Amino acid sequence: MFRCILVCLLVLAVSCTSKIKKEIPHLQKQGTATQLIVDGKPFLILGGELENSSSSSLEYMKPFWPGIAKTNLNTVLAAISWEQFEPTEGKFDFTLVDGLIKDAREHNLRLILLWFGSWKNGNSRYAADWVKADQKRFPKVLNKNGKTLEILSVFGEETCKADAKAFAALMKHVREIDSEKQTVLMMQVQNEVGVHCDSRDRSVLANEAFVKQVPKELMDYLQNHKETLLPEFLKVWEATGFKTSGTWEEIFGKSPAADEIFMAWNYARYINRVAEAGKTEYPIPMFVNAWLVQPQDKTPGDYPSGGPVVHVHDIWRAGGPQIDILSPDVHLRNSDSILISYSRGRNPIFIPESYSGKQGAANAYLALGQFGSIGYSPFGIEAKKNENIPLSKAYAVLSQLAPLIAEHQGKGTIAATLLKPGYSNPKIKLGNYTIKVELRKTRGSKALPEIGYGIFIAVAPNEFIVAGNDIEVTFAPNASDSIAGLTMVKEGKFINSKWVPERRLNGDEVQLRYDLDIAAMERQSGAGLCFLPEKYSIQRVKLYNYK
Ligand code: DGJ
Repeated sequence: MFRCILVCLLVLAVSCTSKIKKEIPHLQKQGTATQLIVDGKPFLILGGELENSSSSSLEYMKPFWPGIAKTNLNTVLAAISWEQFEPTEGKFDFTLVDGLIKDAREHNLRLILLWFGSWKNGNSRYAADWVKADQKRFPKVLNKNGKTLEILSVFGEETCKADAKAFAALMKHVREIDSEKQTVLMMQVQNEVGVHCDSRDRSVLANEAFVKQVPKELMDYLQNHKETLLPEFLKVWEATGFKTSGTWEEIFGKSPAADEIFMAWNYARYINRVAEAGKTEYPIPMFVNAWLVQPQDKTPGDYPSGGPVVHVHDIWRAGGPQIDILSPDVHLRNSDSILISYSRGRNPIFIPESYSGKQGAANAYLALGQFGSIGYSPFGIEAKKNENIPLSKAYAVLSQLAPLIAEHQGKGTIAATLLKPGYSNPKIKLGNYTIKVELRKTRGSKALPEIGYGIFIAVAPNEFIVAGNDIEVTFAPNASDSIAGLTMVKEGKFINSKWVPERRLNGDEVQLRYDLDIAAMERQSGAGLCFLPEKYSIQRVKLYNYK
């Protein structure tokens, strides 16, 4: 049976790809990074996500496109809802998809479409009306108090089939109208899934599944990957002595953690089927996004239970091989630790939702430079139609640097950092140097900026390209007996990937301190790079060593 399904899928994939004339957007490893390849080269997404209701009307969106384009974005993330796409069962309405693709092209923008199908923020308000209305065919979640929630149950077989059918129709259409120009780069399948207000679904179907044996596929995956499972998950399994067969509670304990693992597996299996149906038509990269555990949350259900949060990543990997990326929606300020946790297990990094202010600009540098991210995208971009906001200035720099960043991602020759008062100053080892980054000091004042950030690329043994904001940067040779002096610092631009120098920086622009004797004891020359908050400059520095 399994072989037969596999053969059918293969035949379908071949017949669908034979209708595609050129290479389509796909993921490719480069060292430790995973990159998105578009038109044969890495494409860094400098994105922005629209508010939830904006893409429901092409008319509404019209005045926003020019402003979005001026924000230096290259990609817009826009929702396509099941309710508008399939208003009557089996009848698909392509008006919005066609219009969004046309309007994005007119403004020289690419798109990532967000499939608001069975779930959006855990609940099911974007499901088609005929799905919502037929509770018998499309069952909903029942919680511990016996209340039915407006959340489609992941155990509804008919629901999964209907969602997959609609998504496949969407992907078939995208292939037909877009596989040549490739405006659509990736798909987000559902949005922030998980059960609210309880650790699991307690409907009849869910209860039946919960007392069954944990599927062999999952147990095989866990045993085969035991060496690389993430510690947060491993400790739950370890607590029951790494049992290899039994019910969910026997293997993962009688606790909300077992409920969450059970939900994560079932969401992953469901969404995997939807993604697979879509990829059979048009196999571009597909990802899911997570509503993260918030500081005040105590138990699954406080945050949507079963969504792709880090402690169940292994379950999602096991259940969702068609899902290419498990993405965090970064609506918390500790973006660095979130990205560290999401980049484990070789999970590619892409941030579909986050901030757009100075923190957003810093997040973009950090994600692309430090975590080999495919891209970055703040939420609600159409409301910020101003080319002077920090994000658009940061994107202007990042789009100049994009080819260089892409060349270096994953190779250990690029780094980025984000600094706040009270953070310990990071020391970055790159090439032959250790780079020290500090928040910029204003002479005669103790006040520090609220945030500073920078990206560092080692382009030659003694040479770096650095871009940053509100930071000071100094270099120390890794050889412990010498000091790094500045041979030359130039500020400039990249135009069509070519470095075009402007000012040669020296004097006040590089002198960070005059206590040269103390500096020498700290193996510093007293000079370094300074990045002002309003400048968004790119500097190229050549170093020499003295003793
Ligand atoms: C996260 C969701 O994924 C978005 O669709 C939107 O609802 C934002 N939250 C609102 O902040």
